[in-house]
Amino acid sequence: MENKEGDLVRVDNNRFLADLHKLRSFGASGIGKGVVRPAYSQADMEAREWLAQQMRDAGLRVEVDPMGNLFGLTDGPSVLLGSHSDSQPEGGWLDGALGVIAALEVARASREAGGPAVSVVSFQDEEGRFGVTTGSAVWSGHLTMDQADVLCDHSGVPLAQARQVVPVTEAVDPAQFTGFIEMHIEQGPVLDSTGERIGVVTDIVGIRDMKITFEGQQNHAGTTPMHIRRDAFQAVSAFNHALNERFANVVTPATVWTVGHVSLHPNASSIVPGKAVFSMQWRDGDADRLGRMEQIIRDLAQEIADVRGMQVSFGTLLGLEPVAMDARLRTALEAGAETVAPDRWRQMPSGALHDATNVSRLMPVAMLFVPSINGISHAFEEDTAEDDLVAGLEVLAAAIDVLGG
Ligand code: GLV
Ligand code: MN
Ligand code: MN
Repeated sequence: MENKEGDLVRVDNNRFLADLHKLRSFGASGIGKGVVRPAYSQADMEAREWLAQQMRDAGLRVEVDPMGNLFGLTDGPSVLLGSHSDSQPEGGWLDGALGVIAALEVARASREAGGPAVSVVSFQDEEGRFGVTTGSAVWSGHLTMDQADVLCDHSGVPLAQARQVVPVTEAVDPAQFTGFIEMHIEQGPVLDSTGERIGVVTDIVGIRDMKITFEGQQNHAGTTPMHIRRDAFQAVSAFNHALNERFANVVTPATVWTVGHVSLHPNASSIVPGKAVFSMQWRDGDADRLGRMEQIIRDLAQEIADVRGMQVSFGTLLGLEPVAMDARLRTALEAGAETVAPDRWRQMPSGALHDATNVSRLMPVAMLFVPSINGISHAFEEDTAEDDLVAGLEVLAAAIDVLGG
């Protein structure tokens, strides 16, 4: 796709795609275009070092805050563009990376053209090794550094320890930014199935996430009769089964809930597990519904523990509220979408969480999506057609033109 004549910000599509592929090389999994680049891993830190150099080469001033959020800054007020460059434990090459590299390209192209002032960010731990969008949660003041530091990953490593690898420079004042735009892959099936090329986001859903622990009695798997067992995995299994029924009158087709991580102790074939810790996550666009679901979860887990003579305990409840996108920024994206992909774009909500949710505490925010092939993400198969990646970049550049300096 050629850059259009007359654009103030003339993005270089080839440079953008080359940088996107280069970023993938940090933590490339070897399976498809997959990436393994969790927050603070060696691959993540090397990728951030490379990104910082690209920012410097683009004439931006690099700052890294105590969480490891990486900023490439212009002087004076600017629009902030970006996303995150950490990945899920098994992730795709575009989740987060696309928004960071698109931001870099638009900032670079705008400087070359003497266009609007654009700064760039790659937030840290958006993928929640330690919580939910942890880097932007701390930067925005949703969590204090002290609250975040005690959060542990699934292996028990606290954030305070993991972030010691961060080459901190200084805190970054959000007051210098006039707004934030995050470009991202959709991560769902809507655009791919309709054949549309751009989604302009209306709202981002809310989320709740907490660990739940059942503790029973570790025992011998051959000699312990079934009726006297206090098996922690049986409790998880019963909880998960009953939960779907308990939710039936509360949820809508858009509500989602997931047990994505289970850890059994001691996790051996011939031992009745005495302890199970699992993640319970639920998302919806309605904060009241999220609250009603929480009550059902807590009551059901307690009921299951009581019936089985076991203990249940609940970890810290993490959450983000649903947020609406800013009308002015959204309109700029919609104008860009209509220019780049006439009649082939739509307004849509986001079922995935994004750093934009946290940033909306500080300034106006907006988001745009490009299609995910077969709607797959948080998996090595995640991909997007090259033309669609470029279309998204062009919409972002066009929005920056519309918004001006
Ligand atoms: C972000 O990666 C999410 O889980 O929605
Ligand atoms: Mn993401
Ligand atoms: Mn993700």
